[in-house]
Amino acid sequence: MSSTTIDVNLGGASQSKDRSYKIAIERGLLNDLGARMLTVGPLNKRCALITNPTVGALYRKAAVASLEDAGFLPLVIEIPDGEEYKNLTEIEKVYDRLLEERLERGSAIIALGGGVVGDMAGFVAATYLRGVPYFQVPTTLLAQVDSSVGGKTGVNHRLGKNLIGAFYQPLGVYIDPELLKTLEAREVRAGLAEVVKYGIIWEGSFFEMLEESGTSLGDISTGKVIELIEHSCRIKAEVVAKDERESGVRAILNLGHTFGHAIEALTNYSKYKHGEAVAIGMVMAGKFAVKLGICDAQVPERIEKLLEAIGLETHVDGLEPKEFLAAMKLDKKVKGGTLRFVLPKAIGEVSLCDISDGDTLNFLTDI
Ligand code: NAD
Ligand code: GLY
Repeated sequence: MSSTTIDVNLGGASQSKDRSYKIAIERGLLNDLGARMLTVGPLNKRCALITNPTVGALYRKAAVASLEDAGFLPLVIEIPDGEEYKNLTEIEKVYDRLLEERLERGSAIIALGGGVVGDMAGFVAATYLRGVPYFQVPTTLLAQVDSSVGGKTGVNHRLGKNLIGAFYQPLGVYIDPELLKTLEAREVRAGLAEVVKYGIIWEGSFFEMLEESGTSLGDISTGKVIELIEHSCRIKAEVVAKDERESGVRAILNLGHTFGHAIEALTNYSKYKHGEAVAIGMVMAGKFAVKLGICDAQVPERIEKLLEAIGLETHVDGLEPKEFLAAMKLDKKVKGGTLRFVLPKAIGEVSLCDISDGDTLNFLTDI
């Protein structure tokens, strides 16, 4: 059985604590979850497995069995399924359960789910008793290639996406590609948007490989998906190791997200999946870069073509430009009131650009 380990190297001599950890990728890994956790260090027997009813129905039993086999006593907590529940009200309910059950500082939290469960469980881990250990067990492609790695945790606020949160690194990320077999095709496509992102921001040759595979990328029954997960995790680990708390280069991971988060918020988190909104946002970023003279028209054309081959939408209609701009101004990358965009210079290279509201509004009006 092929098994891959990728190091996320964080911390260092000047830091009080080394926050480095490993990403393990292996088919069937869920059944080994408890044993893997034991290798990381001493943990209380009592732990909390946070999931949602959809993932819970599929994988809770196997996860609990694996934890119990390793001597853990897991408390299972389910958060309702959906981006609309990614908020502080639901977080509070999780705190209630943890406190009622008297989970202590050495008790680990395990996030079993997609990016929503991962971000929320990570935020609970960052804040419960001022921080407890946690592990990511991502179950969607998007979570396996992106959200489970790097320690961004948090929830949405009624005014915008992911506005409340913390950087808090897991002690380990355990990726079992077998879990993707139950994932809807739409969710696979949404995850592929973030895979395409890595090709645009970091590695043109990876983008070319994706172009060659085109429509077959959505077929997760082949070994190809493991290659995509490994490649994506390696790039994410490299970027996060350079800039853990997004004071510089890490911001490039947000390609398409300034547009995308606004699209999600303006459509009440119900029309588009996160990855779908990011796909539209990446094409918009490409077209904006062309308008600003940063790249040539071929760049957004190639991005659009690849995303369409995957089966993703690349345009959004009916959003009012001024409302769109106002939603984008709530982005975390706004500096001194000015919007900062990640824009492609070429396939494989992006830059961070501060753009005036006037130029942004013109673009949103013309597109
Ligand atoms: P999601 O967590 O909502 O999962 C999508 C759907 O798939 C859900 O209905 C879920 O119940 C279901 N599901 C999960 N695993 C399944 C499985 N194995 N089989 C069948 N169904 C399954 O969505 P997502 O796309 O995984 O994550 C999106 C979230 O991730 C957004 O909130 C986004 O902001 C966040 N995100 C965070 C980061 C980060 O760095 N922290 C990065 C990217 C995205
Ligand atoms: N998904 C953006 C980041 O992890 O920084």
